[in-house]
Amino acid sequence: MATIFDLRDVSYSYVGKIDALKDITLKIERGEQVSIIGSNGSGKSTLLAILDALIYPSSGEFYAFENLITEDGFDSISDNEFRSYFRTKVGFVFQNSDVQLFSSTVYEEIAFGPLQLDLPPEEVKSRVKDVLEMMEIGKLRDRSPHTLSGGEKKKVSIATVLVNNPDVLLLDEPSAGLDPRTQLWLMELLQELGRAGKTIVTATHDLEIIDHISNRSIVMGEDHRIKIDRDSKSVLSDYELLLSSNLVHEHTHLHGKLVHEHMHAHGQAHQAHGHAHIGEQHNH
Ligand SMILES: Nc1ncnc2c1ncn2[C@@H]1O[C@H](COP(=O)(O)OP(=O)(O)O)[C@@H](O)[C@H]1O
Ligand SMILES: [Mg+2]
Repeated sequence: MATIFDLRDVSYSYVGKIDALKDITLKIERGEQVSIIGSNGSGKSTLLAILDALIYPSSGEFYAFENLITEDGFDSISDNEFRSYFRTKVGFVFQNSDVQLFSSTVYEEIAFGPLQLDLPPEEVKSRVKDVLEMMEIGKLRDRSPHTLSGGEKKKVSIATVLVNNPDVLLLDEPSAGLDPRTQLWLMELLQELGRAGKTIVTATHDLEIIDHISNRSIVMGEDHRIKIDRDSKSVLSDYELLLSSNLVHEHTHLHGKLVHEHMHAHGQAHQAHGHAHIGEQHNH
């Protein structure tokens, strides 16, 4: 298996003083689907930014596709060559779609990447058409991205990445703010991409999706270190770990392998529909 990302003792601090990552050592192999989980501020977004070579380690080493990535350049092949290789291989779906969208129509937005690649116009057209269909956003093609709903913006953002057909997908809190049906759709999309052999790294604190979209979960602690790096199922069934990582609170209970979120609002505790099911299907 080829190693996509290899971090060795990577630390990162903003403006040299705000710690965001501490001593991160991990490898991600081609075709893996990995969740990065942890509470607010634990360092998930910073870790994705390192993986996307948007920022560089303050200390330690980051290798992507077996090349050492540094601010000054890449070691084995020429800078520009590697940079464009890296950018075609790795796609990033930002948490905030507004930073990803800038064109005047959805069509132009999605065509932008392929046009940058100097593909023939027919190829660009057919790629955009395929992605519009796959994402079920054909009817939005002439809309201005900025007038779309949050869920529609998210779909367009994902489309702008998928149209480039990257091997590696990085997603930052992709399910945040989506309605339940769109969340389910996203989960199924990520499963499908995983089955197609994509390497997918998803930062999330949505415990409901991680077992469905990843077989491995890396838990970031509030001290910005990796707390645990294990199979998703065993992470989800470890209540003490989730509690101490601030991923559940003490009103969240474990029933067998399931974490149940008890809704205490309006005195309707333990109501059938107030349960968050995690890990597997469970019928009451
Ligand atoms: N641009 C920034 N400038 C300064 N500090 C930042 C910046 N971005 C994040 N941080 C800090 O770095 C830490 C990790 O943040 P982040 O990676 O965004 O965590 P997460 O995505 O897990 O919520 C936090 O303490 C956060 O306040
Ligand atoms: Mg974040």
